[in-house]
Amino acid sequence: MCGIVGYVGKKDCVNVLLDGLSSLEYRGYDSAGILTMQKNNNNTYNLNICKTKGRVNDLKISAKQFGISGCIGIGHTRWATHGEPSDINSHPHMDSTSSIGVVHNGIIENYLELKDTLINKGYAFASQTDTEVIPNLIKDNYTGNTLDATITATALLKGSYAIAIVSKENPDEMIVTKKDSPLIIGKGDNEYFVASDIPALLKHTNKVYILEDGEFAKIKLNEITFFNSNKMKLDKKYKEINWSLEAAEKCGYPDFMLKEIFEQPTAVRKTINDNLKNNKFLSELKIDDKFVKSINKIYIVACGTAMHAGLSGKNLIERYLKIPVEVDIASEFRYRHPIINENTLMITLSQSGETADTLAALRLAKSENAKTLAITNSIGSTISREADHVFYTQAGPEIAVASTKAYNTQLATIYMLMISFAEILNIDVTKLKQEIETMANKIEIILNQSEYIETIAKTMFKEKDAFFLGRGYDYPVSLEGSLKLKEISYIHSEAYAAGELKHGPIALIETGTYVICTITDNELLNKSLSNIQEIITRGAKVILITNKKIDSKYYDYLIEIPDCPSEFSSMLSIIPMQLLAYYISKLKNLDVDKPRNLAKSVTVE
Ligand code: F6R
Repeated sequence: MCGIVGYVGKKDCVNVLLDGLSSLEYRGYDSAGILTMQKNNNNTYNLNICKTKGRVNDLKISAKQFGISGCIGIGHTRWATHGEPSDINSHPHMDSTSSIGVVHNGIIENYLELKDTLINKGYAFASQTDTEVIPNLIKDNYTGNTLDATITATALLKGSYAIAIVSKENPDEMIVTKKDSPLIIGKGDNEYFVASDIPALLKHTNKVYILEDGEFAKIKLNEITFFNSNKMKLDKKYKEINWSLEAAEKCGYPDFMLKEIFEQPTAVRKTINDNLKNNKFLSELKIDDKFVKSINKIYIVACGTAMHAGLSGKNLIERYLKIPVEVDIASEFRYRHPIINENTLMITLSQSGETADTLAALRLAKSENAKTLAITNSIGSTISREADHVFYTQAGPEIAVASTKAYNTQLATIYMLMISFAEILNIDVTKLKQEIETMANKIEIILNQSEYIETIAKTMFKEKDAFFLGRGYDYPVSLEGSLKLKEISYIHSEAYAAGELKHGPIALIETGTYVICTITDNELLNKSLSNIQEIITRGAKVILITNKKIDSKYYDYLIEIPDCPSEFSSMLSIIPMQLLAYYISKLKNLDVDKPRNLAKSVTVE
């Protein structure tokens, strides 16, 4: 939700800011802007702003025409919350005397109250945003030091924020701070880079300071100083990030989504690595046998795609470990008074590690004494820092808004977790342990069918509706396939447990309705075939994804996937679904990587 960048150094910052915004555009893309500190001939300073409704590319054109420059600057790419996407609501925002400029990611919940107070004091507001209260509040508390004014002003804010601030009064510095929204600072050679996320920094440095809630950084040329809210100096060390720059670039692929779909074999291999040897997985997680034996309930809590990965995990864990598992949508979990105690394991799945609802659910579980395990892709993210135990999936940066490789690495991790727990509980999972090592190769085999899947997409891309059906392990993956299709192709799509169809939704099936059916479970094969027969009778066009030998009367298009234990089949059956959604989106000339109304990292409730 919104990406922010900043630069303090000797270079002209405009291209650095624009480049950084391009790599953060997945966080929001309805408007963008930059602000630079420009020195005048008489040694005074101006804050120059260039901002526009639209994409970062539109901003690049405006910035060129405008001729903006400077060695200190901030930038923002927006996903609108308060106030429609427009030039005036775009960030950066300034106080009403145009001396303080701010970019902000998050939501200020008490902004109306603050705005009223400031208006009564004579401050004027130009936009409908919550953000505009921040520069005015800092101005109102300014007594000669921007850091002090920021500390006082942020104490009055309720909600979430990552902010970068520049002020004409202290023109050689930038102040940054955060609460419940991510913010990192990259250390270059005699320069510093501020960003919401790692991909914006990789071009410049892999040395990254991760700011914690309530911490402040004062950034000057060659110097960074950290403070807490009592103005005490903090000693912070940077972390070295091992992501390569190529990982955050398209590398010849037309879109990040396609690149990320094709990166899945590597991502899965790296995630599994040698974690199942010598019980490495649990020992690195620092989860001991005693706790595993005491678990009486597992919650898996997540949002969207990550929640679908959790649903696949539930079936598997309950079947083998006989521990009850509840999978919850994080935004529901946090308000439904779940039953939690010290023998509860709460697993949060989150690619970004910053999803506001998942984070709130984690905090709730911790406050009720559950043991918490975060499975995340983002080193140093808030969820990873707050959970008792953390496992990092090795998907590498996922830039496309629609999640693909993160999902498969989340599945791999849950499978490893189940296998590791089973070994402690003396449950025989030898076969699954062997099979998991073969999954990456099997994904590769399906990726080789991408051209064939594109031909199926060509028959389907003009459809208005589609359905996904599956039973058992094939149901959660159908939910995920349906989500992929609707979010990037805008085709209305729904997923049902195949046996549920005749309890209502079958009324929607008519001649020519596309239904994507998945069958990977021998035990449910005949039941699934009966359900397909029911929809064929009503005229459905069936795309069948399967690793079973099935008579051609049951499908119009067949997508064969390699054989594997049905417990792991979601890792394979999702691949054709991702490709189908991708090609349909391309055939409709849509922006695959940045679908409408969405943002990658949902840091607001
Ligand atoms: C869909 C998608 C979202 C995310 C969800 C959770 O393609 O990407 O549904 O899965 O917003 O995000 P994380 O995993 O970052 O918590």
